[in-house]
Amino acid sequence: MSKKTSNQMWGGRFAAGPDAIMEAINASIGFDQRMAAQDIAGSRAHAAMLAATSIVSDSDAEAMREGLLTVLSEIEAGNFEFSTALEDIHMNVEARLKELIGEPAGRLHTGRSRNDQVATDFKLWVRDQLDAVDGALQALMKALLTQAESGADWVMPGFTHLQTAQPVTWGHHMMAYVEMFGRDLSRVRDARARMNECPLGAAALAGTSFPIDREMTARELGFDRPSANSLDAVSDRDFALEFLSAASICAMHLSRMAEELVIWSSAQFRFVSLSDRFSTGSSIMPQKKNPDAAELIRAKIGRIFGANVALMTVMKGLPLAYSKDMQEDKEQVFDAADNLMLALAAMEGMVRDMSANRPSLEAAAGSGFSTATDLADWLVRVADMPFREAHHVTGTLVAMAEEAVVDLPDLSLEQMQSVHSAITDDIFGVLGVHNSVASRTSYGGTAPEQVRAQIARWKEVLA
Ligand code: ARG
Repeated sequence: MSKKTSNQMWGGRFAAGPDAIMEAINASIGFDQRMAAQDIAGSRAHAAMLAATSIVSDSDAEAMREGLLTVLSEIEAGNFEFSTALEDIHMNVEARLKELIGEPAGRLHTGRSRNDQVATDFKLWVRDQLDAVDGALQALMKALLTQAESGADWVMPGFTHLQTAQPVTWGHHMMAYVEMFGRDLSRVRDARARMNECPLGAAALAGTSFPIDREMTARELGFDRPSANSLDAVSDRDFALEFLSAASICAMHLSRMAEELVIWSSAQFRFVSLSDRFSTGSSIMPQKKNPDAAELIRAKIGRIFGANVALMTVMKGLPLAYSKDMQEDKEQVFDAADNLMLALAAMEGMVRDMSANRPSLEAAAGSGFSTATDLADWLVRVADMPFREAHHVTGTLVAMAEEAVVDLPDLSLEQMQSVHSAITDDIFGVLGVHNSVASRTSYGGTAPEQVRAQIARWKEVLA
């Protein structure tokens, strides 16, 4: 095998170039080129700071900053040739800058290392993703609010154990997801606020003897402050893990909702119809309309959980400070971010386009003795019965209705009084599903007035 020359960026002490396998396992350019814009933004801020602190001349810094813009436009235009021999995005950009501007390019790396550089680039990338997820979550929540508003008082069965429990309103069910995605939104914002410290200037691990201005680079890059410990700054990937854990919880919510849409759109439920735009047909069964988008959301979530576990595992045994293991952080996060954004967009589209089947929801709301609790509550309230006794009396009535294959409101007053004499005609007022939901006016309850109050609150939050 021909002897390759050593690496032009760090090969001073090397007599021979790397083995092809070494190059293959070592290079990250195949994926970290996704951080090109962040890398160049970081380098431009660093160059400006090197001039402001007189570490390099103004004219050198200007050449670097201009040259870096040229590199960026080449990458964006797709006519940049990425080199595996140059390992990663940092050295690819710097080597090209050298070709463009010559000697001053060699001064760019003064007072920094690829360790603080990659931490900065990756943070900027994750920060952009947090902002994108923030926007996508808000869009989804707005679609849910629209659904909630149009059916704030539509009745449907509420379930526990997926068995009919009590009637609830469609608006209430939609707003439950608004709460869930609202917590996701606040997790994303917490993570963003906590991660917004700039690693640049931590250099390899110990800081630098050059009189750099870390406040300046932090400010230029939109960070709140420089990170306070250089060892921590280059070895911290908490920001990526917080992104992945917030993403995992959000993904879990998406998957639960996807599961409900799969169930609800089945012929057995018919609670919703999904639009043609978010369904597919079967190549053999002409009648089929499948909820593929919901199923794929449900499935894709596994990759996001997987990324979280994978990065936790990469990080868990690493001594301070940087280790090359940490190069394995990016692909996981890129893949999780892509799939989370896709899942959020698909869910938003499905929710926006779906129509709730009001008659099916209402028919199902009254089935399965869903107002039995209302009957028991009435016995407590009107007949002053202890709840446990009321529960027992109601259970007897349910058994009677079940035996007669009718619903509770179909029992006659005489039949009911044969179980307990305190029951009067008024009982029928609480056995209807609309009365049932209207009566649940406790804060956060399913009554349409409560649901409308929550819709109004969230509209204000998201305005
Ligand atoms: N490509 C590397 C990474 O993603 C950049 C940092 C390399 N640092 C080093 N000391 N070799 O982690």
